[in-house]
Amino acid sequence: MEKKVLVQVNVLGVIADQDIAQQLQESLGRIQGVNFTLRPPRSIRSLADIGVKEMPDILLMDIDGHTPQDATDLQRLVAESPDHLRIFCIFRHENSSLIGKLKGPALAHIYTPPFVAQEIVLDVLEVMSDKRRRLLEARARKGSITAFFSASGGAGATTLATNTAERLVSQFGRRVTLLDLDIGFGCAALTLDIQPRTFATTALTQPERIDPVFIEALLTEHESGLKVLAAPADPQAGETISVAAIQALLHALVERYELLVIDLPRLITPWTLEVMKQADPLFIVTHNHMVPLRNTRLLIEQLPRVGVLKERIEVINNHARPGGELHSEHMRETLHNLPIHQVSSDFSTAVRAQDQGAPIHSLQRRSALCRDIEKLAEYLNSSFTGTTQTHPSLFKRMLGQGHRVGGF
Ligand SMILES: Nc1ncnc2c1ncn2[C@@H]1O[C@H](COP(=O)(O)OP(=O)(O)O)[C@@H](O)[C@H]1O
Ligand SMILES: [Mg+2]
Repeated sequence: MEKKVLVQVNVLGVIADQDIAQQLQESLGRIQGVNFTLRPPRSIRSLADIGVKEMPDILLMDIDGHTPQDATDLQRLVAESPDHLRIFCIFRHENSSLIGKLKGPALAHIYTPPFVAQEIVLDVLEVMSDKRRRLLEARARKGSITAFFSASGGAGATTLATNTAERLVSQFGRRVTLLDLDIGFGCAALTLDIQPRTFATTALTQPERIDPVFIEALLTEHESGLKVLAAPADPQAGETISVAAIQALLHALVERYELLVIDLPRLITPWTLEVMKQADPLFIVTHNHMVPLRNTRLLIEQLPRVGVLKERIEVINNHARPGGELHSEHMRETLHNLPIHQVSSDFSTAVRAQDQGAPIHSLQRRSALCRDIEKLAEYLNSSFTGTTQTHPSLFKRMLGQGHRVGGF
């Protein structure tokens, strides 16, 4: 069952009329999840005047309606507004010449006298439920949160998370964040040759500050356009991370980006489990060898007992040998018939890419490894857009068996 999503709605009021300001403060202050902030009148002429931390969902302004400056300011605000911003306008004079001139999708409501605070409260609640619906929809989509977990050290989780995320941006044009949660040892930044100055721990240690705008300021952009929230490379940085902090971080990133790709540490703790529960798919990266296979099987059997949905777990057989399909059939049985993606082994390319801090496709575009990473990216992209392809394996086709989504 889907957990209740707690939504915060930021309302920024730019109100000159003291009486209106007070009524709003009283009524909006009573609603859980609404943060109402007041700014002095005439303090906002363009959205650039709004501080980064207070970037609102709703801008609530009262307008005298007579000065030409009012008209220019409002028209500019409406034109500048990003997707999610809604502007609510309170007019103090019914006959304002401005009312007729205003239009644009951001201008959600116009209130004319007499002023009734309850009307605004209802409209704020509507924005709140709209935001909750958007978040639930985003989370419900397969591919919106993808996590990579290594079944045994060095299985390739970081390599695949990093390169798949990069391909989702450079090949499929998606808006993606790569979140490195391997706190203390993370090397996603190193793999992409970027030098972050802020890290995931900056947010996770002060969860009360987490909102999409604060998080945006912590991201480092790779030349491909991929945004990275890096982990500090500092073995002593293993702070205690709370489930609530992780929930807030994922929430903020999902709100702002289409796809979130997460590199998990090899740890089972309440907070890593929370990421696994939210991920769809949760990729377990493994090899077709005894120890990693045993670990993968253990994970597949145990994780559903602690709340990770089995339908969301998929396996990546990294370092796969060419023509190893018969082997893979045995692997599939061992792994309870979960979907298995094959990624070819190519040590020299993988290591060279990591050493140079370059995406694999920039070194060996035609290699089997590069093609398999592109297939993973294509799979996530089509899952996300709802156009998932089925790829029957040659083996299955020979046996006349059905297709398997995401399999090989
Ligand atoms: N498909 C592959 N073929 C060959 N080498 C690989 C492949 N995938 C990853 N590697 C190499 O394996 C090593 C460990 O990979 P890494 O992604 O850091 O693993 P993990 O994050 O699971 O510990 C790295 O040197 C990487 O270059
Ligand atoms: Mg790793």
